[in-house]
Amino acid sequence: MKNASARMLSKVAVVTGAGSSGPGVGTGKAISILLAREGAKVLLVDRSESAADETLQIIRSEGGDASVFIGDVSSGEQCLAAVKTAETLYGRLDTLVNNVAVTSSAEVVDVEESDLDRLIDVNLKSVVLMTKHAAPRIAAAGGGSITNIGSISALRATGRQTAYTASKGGVVALTSLWAVELGRSRIRVNCICPGTLYTPIAVGLFGMSDQVRWDRANLPPLGTEGTAWDIAWAALFLASEEARWISGVTLPVDGGFIAATPQWGADVERLRDRGPRT
Ligand SMILES: NC(=O)c1ccc[n+]([C@@H]2O[C@H](COP(=O)([O-])OP(=O)(O)OC[C@H]3O[C@@H](n4cnc5c(N)ncnc54)[C@H](O)[C@@H]3O)[C@@H](O)[C@H]2O)c1
Repeated sequence: MKNASARMLSKVAVVTGAGSSGPGVGTGKAISILLAREGAKVLLVDRSESAADETLQIIRSEGGDASVFIGDVSSGEQCLAAVKTAETLYGRLDTLVNNVAVTSSAEVVDVEESDLDRLIDVNLKSVVLMTKHAAPRIAAAGGGSITNIGSISALRATGRQTAYTASKGGVVALTSLWAVELGRSRIRVNCICPGTLYTPIAVGLFGMSDQVRWDRANLPPLGTEGTAWDIAWAALFLASEEARWISGVTLPVDGGFIAATPQWGADVERLRDRGPRT
């Protein structure tokens, strides 16, 4: 990287879910690109080769340094292999971003056990196992950071998302626990809770008709649509030395959504149909 004042110069980062395809940029992709622009060497972890390769090509075309690890992070073996790959390729590890997640939509009375298992495995178990394997290596490098990507769904009811909320609630709770457990190893642990973004996952989940997109942009007090870049700037800050005294924080990046409760996020359409109780 040419910029000598880059904030992540000579740092090594692992980002899970670093690819993304479809309309809108994914959070993992945006975080990886910003970290690389600031000088980090980034291991892009994704189960989709084509998705990860998209991110890789963007970073390389900008003169950045990144590599791809293809694997499913719901497997502990793959988590360990990803972390070892970063160490083998780059000789150290400074930063982990636990970004990966999948979604489903069901109220508690309709939740499918298989869906619950899948979301807990991908969204929560992966965060635990990536952190388990990464933390000792980050400590060995003299300390660094772990940033978990949670969701406003862990902080407020956002509707029809029992499995997703269960998984993200765990991510938020573990952030505090690990900030305490890993503090003396000089590892800062923080969590970003994104709001109503326009990303490939959101398009897959909500369809994003013009009306839904308008509703989601209209929900937060700022009245604008969030993008993956809004999350990526926060993730870059939390990974950088500028955040050296910040740990155990859960940071909503949501256009003010959490400040304006009660609101039911993605469920506005259903609430509109249902109307007030008489
Ligand atoms: N999009 C939103 O509106 C929104 C809102 C709140 C929170 N979030 C959170 O932000 C994060 C990123 O969301 P995004 O929508 O930007 O998605 P994204 O595009 O960054 O991430 C999805 C990527 O993860 C990969 N992936 C999925 N399962 C995997 C697995 N088992 N192993 C390895 N890779 C896997 C996919 O191939 C895809 O490339 C997630 O944690 C999500 O819960 C998003």
